[in-house]
Amino acid sequence: MKIIQLTDTHLLPPGATVHGVDPEAHLRAAVADILEKHRTADLLVITGDLCNDGDPQAYALLRDILQPFTCDIRLLLGNHDSRPAFTAAFPEQPRDENGFIQSCLDTPFGRLLFLDSHGAGIIGGIYDESRLTWLDDALAGAGERPVTVFVHHPPVHSGIAHFENIEMHDDGQMLQRLAAHPAGIRHIVFGHIHVPLSGSSATGIAYSSGQACSHKFITDIDAPDPFWTAGNPCYRIIHIDDNGFRAYAAEVGETRTGRTGPCEGP
Ligand SMILES: [Fe+2]
Repeated sequence: MKIIQLTDTHLLPPGATVHGVDPEAHLRAAVADILEKHRTADLLVITGDLCNDGDPQAYALLRDILQPFTCDIRLLLGNHDSRPAFTAAFPEQPRDENGFIQSCLDTPFGRLLFLDSHGAGIIGGIYDESRLTWLDDALAGAGERPVTVFVHHPPVHSGIAHFENIEMHDDGQMLQRLAAHPAGIRHIVFGHIHVPLSGSSATGIAYSSGQACSHKFITDIDAPDPFWTAGNPCYRIIHIDDNGFRAYAAEVGETRTGRTGPCEGP
């Protein structure tokens, strides 16, 4: 199956900018590219920080921009989002019995989990007891199927100085629960850090982030105060199939310096 991941779209009311970027222009450019090249995608996931300040106008704008998609859509909350404004704008998005924006999707290639790590007024991730209970049930329900996780905050140590105090504030509970799933975790897909990162946990769970669609950091893992850059609108194409999991980074508006021909080998 083909999944498109967008992350950290940071929408504002029309015309407003954030760190030198018009987030609406970036998202509209990414969406146009996705609709041109990936109309066959099975699922669109936005892994949080949908909107920058949680304005109802920004969620309405997001709804308008996503209107052309005909595939399944799952929207996750990040620290910049507002759960009340989001649920008012997207009442059809699935949530758990406690109102958290969490859901499962069963596919021929295992169970996908969409987790809610938003805590109002907190920059890092929150994953408290009621959410852990939901996760335990969702993992038990997966049974012998592998699981792929989508969440805004990385439940792993990023090693990036700027994020040292704003990672998942769960004492490793989410990662421990995932590591105990007998059928394995195919991948943890997240956002939050605005730069591309890939790695594996101490227990061997693979993870990676999408690059922000809106503003990014110039990668400087040791700087607590790194520089912002606009960069290009970004998204990822994720394939999950009999060969496993693969994620491809895509950028819109790259400079073309030439064209290669087919490579016939050997
Ligand atoms: Fe963000």
